[in-house]
Amino acid sequence: MPKSGVVSIGLIGQQFMGRAHSNAWGQANRFCAPALKASLHTVCGQNASTLPAFAENWGWARTSTDYHAMARAPEIDLIDITAQNHLHLPMAKAAMEAGKAVACEKPLAGTYSDAREMVALARKYKVPTFVWYNYRRCPAIAYAYQMARAGALGQIRHVRGFYLQDWADASVPLLWRFDGKVSGSGSHGDLCAHTIDMVRFVTGEEIVEITGAMFETFVKERTMVTKVSGGGIASNVAGAEGTKVPVTVDDAVLFLGRLEGGGVCSFEATRLATGRQNFHGFEINGSKGSLRFNFEHNNELEYYDATGPRGTQGWRTIICTHQPDHPYIQFWWPDSHAIGYEHAFINMAYDILQVMAGKAPVVPLPDFEDAFKTQCVLEAVSRLAAERHSMSVADLR
Ligand SMILES: NC(=O)c1ccc[n+]([C@@H]2O[C@H](COP(=O)([O-])OP(=O)(O)OC[C@H]3O[C@@H](n4cnc5c(N)ncnc54)[C@H](O)[C@@H]3O)[C@@H](O)[C@H]2O)c1
Repeated sequence: MPKSGVVSIGLIGQQFMGRAHSNAWGQANRFCAPALKASLHTVCGQNASTLPAFAENWGWARTSTDYHAMARAPEIDLIDITAQNHLHLPMAKAAMEAGKAVACEKPLAGTYSDAREMVALARKYKVPTFVWYNYRRCPAIAYAYQMARAGALGQIRHVRGFYLQDWADASVPLLWRFDGKVSGSGSHGDLCAHTIDMVRFVTGEEIVEITGAMFETFVKERTMVTKVSGGGIASNVAGAEGTKVPVTVDDAVLFLGRLEGGGVCSFEATRLATGRQNFHGFEINGSKGSLRFNFEHNNELEYYDATGPRGTQGWRTIICTHQPDHPYIQFWWPDSHAIGYEHAFINMAYDILQVMAGKAPVVPLPDFEDAFKTQCVLEAVSRLAAERHSMSVADLR
């Protein structure tokens, strides 16, 4: 437990996730009454000219452009990493070497080898670690987890996981998400990682075998970036006309696998599913019931109870905004006063603060060990997809 009576935080990054996390720490203090409050000690970014305004807006007391120095600052308890994937290892390493807890954005790392080293470092330094698989803390997903633990699914036979977006048409320049050296992979590590984590979390089962996998890159070249988004992904970005840079990651991934309990699963993630903007979820079919979720309706969980009379069975939509039944809703609003994207981050900040105070989280938090299990699935899928096993229909005799 931190000595100061607060958890003093050093945040790395000031864009999309930098904003989401800054908001989360501040709002967790205000809405959730954590056992230890977050102290927004220092924000560290690359852009020294925009840092002071960012700090003032979000309530950070100090700024820095040197994450090594920030990690060594004795007053700081926890380093929160929202930089690009290839920086997760060096940043987490600097934090752990300084004895600090680490909350790292997902995926654990861009590559399997970086992720493995991060787990080894966490074992060596024995500091608390957390990975921002934030969807676990949508009340509907946390409730699905609780329903599954209470036996609502029975034996799991099918899982269909999906994460479909459509922001990456050919007009989008080569943002870091299209550069394999920075990101490690495309839709796979960016999107599918979330779905794999969510399915592992809700079912309580590991994906133990990958039986087929493919990557596709539809847009093979993109223009060089001249302007990056201030806080989103591809809105308000620009590229230099006439320039062309190869895309080195997947736009889409599909794979098939098996769960440890004998069920079968399919996963699909893409940035080019026209009309699907954040269609992230699953359908899980068990012997006693089924659950279905799609983040575009993030307050809702669909449930099919197969234990009653067949004649009246049917899907029902549970609006997961009722306290005390639905996890985390005690922090928020009355029934059906819907919550949004940022609330899962706030709920996660609360749980991290509780764990730092020696208390239990509402539902389990992923640490580096846990997130490495998701990384292993990502890696097995990548290796199998690289082998490009296929059978041409025209070659049939
Ligand atoms: N949990 C989620 O739902 C979710 C959503 C989006 C992104 N992410 C993850 O968050 C991470 C960041 O994504 P993003 O979209 O916020 O990226 P981004 O490009 O918007 O922001 C990256 C930030 O890191 C900072 N940075 C980079 N190098 C730095 C350095 N050496 N020192 C200090 N700051 C440095 C940049 O200045 C920038 O502010 C990625 O790992 C991504 O996979 C998670």
